[in-house]
Amino acid sequence: MTVPATPLSDPADPADPHPALAAMRESAPVHRVELHTGLPVWMVTRYDDVLAALSDPRLSNDPHHAGDLTEVMRGDFLSRSMIGADPPEHTRLRRLVSKAFTARRVEGLRPRIEEITAGLLDRITPRGEAELVGEFGLPLPITVIGELLGVPEADRDHFRNWTDEMLDRPFDPGRDMAQVTAARERMHRYLADLVAAKRARPADDLLTDLVAATDEGERLDEQELLAMAFLLLIAGYVTTVSLIGNGTLALLRHPDQLDRLRADPSMVPQAVEELLRFDGPVNPGIGRYALEDLDIGGVRIPRGGMVLLAIAAADRDPDRFPDPDRLDIGAADPGHLAFGHGVHYCLGAPLARLEGQVAFTALLTRLPDLALAAREDELRWTGGGVLRGLRALPVTFTPTPARAARAVQA
Ligand code: HEM
Repeated sequence: MTVPATPLSDPADPADPHPALAAMRESAPVHRVELHTGLPVWMVTRYDDVLAALSDPRLSNDPHHAGDLTEVMRGDFLSRSMIGADPPEHTRLRRLVSKAFTARRVEGLRPRIEEITAGLLDRITPRGEAELVGEFGLPLPITVIGELLGVPEADRDHFRNWTDEMLDRPFDPGRDMAQVTAARERMHRYLADLVAAKRARPADDLLTDLVAATDEGERLDEQELLAMAFLLLIAGYVTTVSLIGNGTLALLRHPDQLDRLRADPSMVPQAVEELLRFDGPVNPGIGRYALEDLDIGGVRIPRGGMVLLAIAAADRDPDRFPDPDRLDIGAADPGHLAFGHGVHYCLGAPLARLEGQVAFTALLTRLPDLALAAREDELRWTGGGVLRGLRALPVTFTPTPARAARAVQA
């Protein structure tokens, strides 16, 4: 089948990419899309095809198998991490950290996550207004993953800036790639210093455990250790911030669903699943590289071709989800692909779910009459790469005293 090229810039309007993604999904199973850099990718849009491709061993996660990648992308040190590796390397790398992220281990973090959440809300509830991304959605997962890994609190702003620099608008033609490289080098140096500090002064954290795994044998070399630290650090918050931001906005835009959730907070876990399906952080999708010539949806993809698996399009495929453009927290379907599928299925899914559940429960109970304090056309989005999220979410609500203050008054 011949597939004409479509520039990704047009369909991927970050304010609302879904209508364009739907049009692509309806017109053909695979589109030849040109990213702004000129990099051609094969974009797969239908649920069944994306699901099958996510566990197809002929599609690699390792960018070194790409025919067309720029050096900047190939040099990305994430390509030394599990997300850029195929089995058996992938299996070895993932096994080293998988225990720390099981549903049971993560459940043990609940009291601390609730405490961090309450502390953040204590600062904003008396004011009656807040910017929910910067003051809540972002600091919550950064604090959680920072504490888990053992990143000093004072350093968290630095790595946040470097991550923004690296991830925001990676395909924008006006983007200065030297800035991306500089941010990546600073992050690399910072992590190397942090690893050295853990080696000198071991602590009770995940990074110290990984340093020990490196020093004890051949299970992890130094570059793999840095790549692992980097992956866990950024994957641990860049996505969850969008779950909280996009999810809160989706609820504000659907007051009937918000009221339903307020009336029955036991629905929060299923609401989180529906919000992940409806407007998940991974948008348009994730990349793979063809290890051989192969067919997807009747379209021939050549060896070395980069394939973009459009999770955001698949999760609104009417052949899989009835009435997919309607947010319905009662109809949540765990079959969504927001966390991927197959061997790379999100390692942090239990943690992200828990953070989302704690965050939405707290927002519902502690911010009465929550309302959007910006016009729709004032909302600004990050995106253009793999992820999409709100830059800011201004809200108002009825002020209430901080919990600590209430306890003192009582
Ligand atoms: C709502 C939040 C999140 C979403 C939507 C999300 C989404 C995803 C997706 C789609 C993948 C698969 C990538 C692929 O197949 O190439 C993935 C992988 C991964 N995620 Fe998440 N993620 C989230 C939160 C987290 C958190 C909190 C962590 C904590 C460390 C995390 C760590 C990882 C890691 C390490 C991988 C790579 C797994 C592998 O390659 O085996 N994620 N995530």
